Amino acid sequence: MTLVVKYLVIHGPNLNLLGMREPEIYGTVTLQEINQRLLTEAETFDIKLEIIQSNSEGEIIDAIHRALSYDGIIINPAAYTHYSLAIYDALRAVKLPTVEVHLSQIHDREEFRSRSVIAPACIGQISGFGFNSYLLALRALVLHNKI
Ligand code: DQA
Repeated sequence: MTLVVKYLVIHGPNLNLLGMREPEIYGTVTLQEINQRLLTEAETFDIKLEIIQSNSEGEIIDAIHRALSYDGIIINPAAYTHYSLAIYDALRAVKLPTVEVHLSQIHDREEFRSRSVIAPACIGQISGFGFNSYLLALRALVLHNKI
């Protein structure tokens, strides 16, 4: 029997606008392109991805609950990073290895962005590498789960 390894990828609010949203900060790559790169990379590790984007906190929490049987989560909580204790609680509840991702370097922007209430529920945070942050997060999760 072959075991299927499955990760959930969550893109938070406003990330559906990547490509045209503040390109000087977030780059010109669209969410669709990021997802395609993630799927291609995941295939090389023989990992299945479920990818969702939502602008609503409740939908993100429901997706985290549904992922209970998965092997890990990659999440860019976007602005929820800075204040969603409900997403933090959901991640704590499912206890899945989770990597927090940001395209921009959140520690080198407005002061409010340098605080993540989500990070303590994660195995780590990757921030500042543009769309490559997602690919690095995927690798981080694979390496973490191998140990
Ligand atoms: C972001 C950083 C957040 O501060 C911001 O609210 C976002 C995107 C990033 O990927 O750099 O929407 O998570």
